[in-house]
Amino acid sequence: MDTALSHHTRSAVTPDDTARLAARIEQRLRAADRLLLPLDEELQLLSELQEFDLGRFLLHNEGLNGYWTSYVFGHQPGDPVATELERWMLTRSLLPGIRERFGRFKAAIAPSVTDGAVLASVPCGLMDDLLQQDYRDTTGVRLIGVDIDPESVDLARENAAERGLAELCEFHVGDAWRLDLDAEADLLTSNGLNMYESDPERLVELYRNFARALRPGGRLLVSFIPAPPAPPWAEAGWPGGWAKYGIQDADLLRDMAIFGDILQAKYLNFTGEQEIRSQLSRAGLVVTDISRNARGALPIAIAVRSN
Ligand SMILES: C[S@@+](CC[C@H](N)C(=O)[O-])C[C@H]1O[C@@H](n2cnc3c(N)ncnc32)[C@H](O)[C@@H]1O
Repeated sequence: MDTALSHHTRSAVTPDDTARLAARIEQRLRAADRLLLPLDEELQLLSELQEFDLGRFLLHNEGLNGYWTSYVFGHQPGDPVATELERWMLTRSLLPGIRERFGRFKAAIAPSVTDGAVLASVPCGLMDDLLQQDYRDTTGVRLIGVDIDPESVDLARENAAERGLAELCEFHVGDAWRLDLDAEADLLTSNGLNMYESDPERLVELYRNFARALRPGGRLLVSFIPAPPAPPWAEAGWPGGWAKYGIQDADLLRDMAIFGDILQAKYLNFTGEQEIRSQLSRAGLVVTDISRNARGALPIAIAVRSN
């Protein structure tokens, strides 16, 4: 498994690189004023993260790339896992929540699978959202995938070929802010990009690109992340508002210890519902619906190009 995955993560990291990084993180944890879990538990988690590919990828990177997103979304109960910590991450952390949201993306895409439809995914990653639809009773569908990462685009091509859908697809290595699509798409789906952008004006610019790519009346599906409830160390609100994420208190604490204390993941930029409605409106898109999980979390905005 390691050999195959080193291709998929393209990071030429050696065990020495990981050991050096872990030593730096250990130093930082030892010096921290406040940790969510006792120091020895956090050091144990740091050690266990080095024992599996997904854990090592997370240690070295600021989030999931196309390959690892697809891996998390594709995990089924009973699938083999490398270690117990990996099993926990795939089944009990906050990651299963984004898998559920991926299922809602697929369900929201399905009605657009019609004869002659042009469907785009930006950033496409491995393009599971479009490639896991049923095209057997349709003709003339065109699928467009755009991602800035050439490795993700290569893997999306392989994914399309494995599903017998290569002929419907075109892929472009490119920047979502510079899409070369003009009033072409009936649907554009976008998961996992806007949360990396901290400048709201740049988000409006991104959505203008999406609007331009859609034909008038075309639909945009875009996930967004509202600010989460108060963190566990806050006096009030713990676990309070977290119930809607469907995660046990101890699992949430562990998730936050890993992604906060240990990984210091800084890539999340939060956008509230009113904010994204206004950003999309400035980009020429009208929100028609917001899809949420059964408890009201993990939203996807559904919008149409207004003219
Ligand atoms: C979390 S993955 C999500 C992939 C896919 N949408 C999914 O849900 O499986 C984020 C993707 O964004 C891509 N990406 C990052 N910056 C980008 C940009 N400026 N333009 C296009 N793609 C970008 C990354 O290469 C990565 O494949």
